[in-house]
This record gives sequence, C-alpha cells and structure tokens, in this order.
Amino acid sequence: MYTIEEIKLILKSMLSKKRYIHSLNVADESVKLAERWGGENEKKKAYLAGLVHDACKDMPQDEQKLLVEKSSGVCDVELETPALWHSVAGAWYVKNRFYIDDEDIINAVRYHTSARAGMSRLEEIIYMADLISADRSYSDVEKVRKLAYSSLEKAMLYALKFSIIEVAGKGSKIPINTIEAYNQYTSAGKI
Ligand SMILES: [Fe+2]
Ligand SMILES: [Fe+2]
Repeated sequence: MYTIEEIKLILKSMLSKKRYIHSLNVADESVKLAERWGGENEKKKAYLAGLVHDACKDMPQDEQKLLVEKSSGVCDVELETPALWHSVAGAWYVKNRFYIDDEDIINAVRYHTSARAGMSRLEEIIYMADLISADRSYSDVEKVRKLAYSSLEKAMLYALKFSIIEVAGKGSKIPINTIEAYNQYTSAGKI
C-alpha cells in the first residue's frame, strides 16, 4: 500500500494536469459529502477513493480495454462503450497497482460512471462528488450541488435521469447497471 503522497505522485505522472486537478477536487468534495452523509468509515475512505477514481482515464484506450477484459462482471454495453472503460479498468488498477484491497473503495471506482442498484454510501458519495466537484461548470451544476447536500438519494435520481436522457438522446446504449440504479432511486422517491 502506498501513502497518499505516493499515490498523488503516480497519478500526476498518469494524468493530464486538468484531470489531476479534477481528481484532487473530487477527493476534496468526497470528504465534504462524507462529512454530510457518511459515518467515520466513509470519511476515511472518501479522500482516497475520490483521488483515484479516474486513474485510468488518460490511459490509451487499447490498454484500458485490456484491463476491462481482465475484469469480471462486465456487461456487453460496457464492453462496447469506450467511455465506460476507465471505471472498470480503474477498479482493476487500484486493486492491482495501488494495492488498495478495500472492496468498497474498489467498487466506488468501478461504478462511478455507470452507477448500479444497491450502491453503498461511499459509492454514492464518489458518484456525486465526481459530478459536483469544484471544476464542474455545466448549466445546472449549482442545482445538483444543493441537491447533493439536501438529499443524496434525490441527487442520485436527478443525475441518473439526466445521464440516461443524454445518452439515449445520442442514440447510445445504456448499461443495465444504470437502468437498475435509476429504477431503484425512482422507487425511493420522486423529485
Ligand atoms: Fe470518470
Ligand atoms: Fe471524474
């Protein structure tokens, strides 16, 4: 296991400057969300999970694909969608290259793009922190930020709905994990 400072140095060499700054921002936002929604346990893990969530994002696509193929539980849509590879590859990477053995942290990286039904509190925190970190500037980011601190479930539902509409609007396929997550949060409470 590396120290946080060592992981930062490795990430700095793997990521573009912009992506590295995004990773630091997501780590900071994750801690804030964990303070709001998590127990002591989540607080400790949130910074590390946020920091490493995009570890493989700037890796060449063929290398990402190789790591996806080494991973289990990957659906057909994930296999054929390059934008989703870095999450699956990232989970492999943090386990096998950063020697992080905490399943909750590995799953938070694995599902930070697709989401899934039955997400742990840490998984939700990383998913949302990625969307509302300081470097994000899409049109309703302030609304999502407010929602994330008033109801994590409602924020998840809002984000999943937005993501599904966007992906379907482009005519692209939606992974089953995303649909199952959406269905779960829809049942939990409408906004
Ligand atoms: Fe990502
Ligand atoms: Fe990210």
